[in-house]
Order: sequence, then C-alpha cells, then structure tokens
Amino acid sequence: MNSQQKKIRELLKERRAILLVHYYQRPEIQEIADVLGDSLALSMAAAKNDAAVIVFAGVHFMAQSAALLAPDKTVLLPRPDAGCPLADMASVESVQKMKSKEHDACFVTYINSTAEVKAASDVCCTSSNAVAVVNSVKDKRKIIMLPDGNLARWVSRQTDKEIIAWPGYCPVHHFLKAADVAAKKRQYPSAPFAAHPECPAEILALADFVGSTGAILQFARTSSAPEIIIGTEEGILTELQKQNPGKKFIMASPQLVCHDMKKTTLDDIEKSLVAMQPVITVPEEIRASARRALDGMLAVS
Ligand code: 13P
Ligand code: SF4
Repeated sequence: MNSQQKKIRELLKERRAILLVHYYQRPEIQEIADVLGDSLALSMAAAKNDAAVIVFAGVHFMAQSAALLAPDKTVLLPRPDAGCPLADMASVESVQKMKSKEHDACFVTYINSTAEVKAASDVCCTSSNAVAVVNSVKDKRKIIMLPDGNLARWVSRQTDKEIIAWPGYCPVHHFLKAADVAAKKRQYPSAPFAAHPECPAEILALADFVGSTGAILQFARTSSAPEIIIGTEEGILTELQKQNPGKKFIMASPQLVCHDMKKTTLDDIEKSLVAMQPVITVPEEIRASARRALDGMLAVS
C-alpha cells in the first residue's frame, strides 16, 4: 500500500466508512476496497453493513442504488460525473409512454438505470440475476426489459417468457467486433472465450461462457484452461490475475474500456472523505417506489 492508499484507509476508519469498489475500477482503488464486487454483490453489501458512510467507487447509478438501499447512511460518490451512458438510454418519460401502451406488461429494469426509471418499474435486475428475476414473474404477462437490449435478448434465449427488448446498449460491450474475437481465437485456439451479456448476440454466439463480471471470475477460477479470452471491461483483469496467478487472460479487444469507470482516482476518494462530499441522495417522492423495485430484485437473489 502506498502512502495515499494508507491515508485513505485511515480516513475511512475515522469516518466509520466502507469503500465499495466495482471490478471495472482502477487497480490502485481495487487494492484498498472493503468490498470489491459486481453490481449485485455491491448492492447487497450496501444493503447490509455496519458503517455510517458508504464511499462508492463506481458510477452514479450504483451510488444512487446504495442511497436507496441504505437510507440511514451517507453515500459519497467521489466523482459525481461518472455516469453510465446505458442508464441514460431510458428516460422516465419514454418508460411512462411505453407503460401507457403496455399497461399489462411487467417492466424489468436493469440496475444500470436512474432512480426515476426504477421507480416506474416493477422490479430491477443485474446481469447476475436477470434470468432468475424474469423467471420469478409469476403470471403470463409480457416482460419489457430495459434499458439494455443485448441483456434482454440474452435472457429471452433462456426463458419461455415473452420479452420485449428496449433499444439501449452499453457502448463499451456493444461495439466489440466479432472479427476481433475471431482473431484472438485464431491466436489462442484452445482458450475459451468468456463474455458479458451486455455484448451483442453475434459476440455471445462465439462465447464458451456468458455471465456477469462475478460469474466470469468464478468461471476463470473453476476452468482448467490455462488461457482465457475476456469479453468484458478490462478492469476485471486485476482480480482475474490476482485470483489465478498461473493463468493468462487475453482481452478480446483493447477497446473494452469504460471511461466513466476510470474517472475515479485515489485523489478523488481522499478529497471526498475529507470534505464528506459529494453526497448522493434520491428525491423523496420516488424513493419508496425505486426501493420497492430493488427489494424485489434482492428477494430473488
Ligand atoms: P455487472 O457488475 O453486473 O457484471 O455489470 C457490469 C457493468 O457494466 C456495470 O456497469
Ligand atoms: Fe455503463 Fe457500460 Fe460503463 Fe457499465 S461498462 S458503467 S454499463 S457504460
């Protein structure tokens, strides 16, 4: 640990704070996490901990979800400009418009969404539990999955429920090219390809394993393959390499970088803990409805 990392750990202790870190964050931030995880693991950690303060090293929707799940705690997002372009692809107005046309449908909303959109939805999901959440919808209602169309199409291939996919996408995963994956497969012919369900169908068709970041880590731990091609954001390499020092991980493309996830630096975290700012809150009028959608998700996770 360098001196700044030590300083941050001391500040965290003084403030009775915990640092929640997504796998896509910079390595030096992952190193000092209290909890390092994927979207589901971090939501669960936010909902259940003894701290007074949660510092979120991730993007805005993650901190907003933590604020919903831990209303008695102060939630800090060191870089409030760290957004998620996918979350911005479903506005509450567009969801309300769809609801007025499809009033009998069940709206299953990816956690990568604003609190307003969650509040207008029936239940949330992450990439770890999307299939389970969809299958938990008891009646025969049509399901509208938003905002990630790729995730929706991947889920619909694993369930007999009728799913309408929203036209949103994660720009990091969506633009991964089949030609890039094919080139890596030629270079490493015996390496399995593990991809995130935010990738488009033609990429997932090439995959030996599809799952959330947490599931890809589990696949890498249990696979006997010494080399694995990775189809998700490059930040996952830090933990893949830490957990599997004898294995080689090959990025399917050098373009798999989320610039929003990389905005947060150690400086930002230190400043945020000193100033106890920026605090993320959720407007009172949508808090209960958005929380209900998240609680529905946690109940099947
Ligand atoms: P998971 O954390 O569910 O794997 O999702 C990845 C992601 O894109 C988070 O923004
Ligand atoms: Fe959003 Fe994609 Fe970045 Fe995740 S990787 S925060 S879905 S843009």
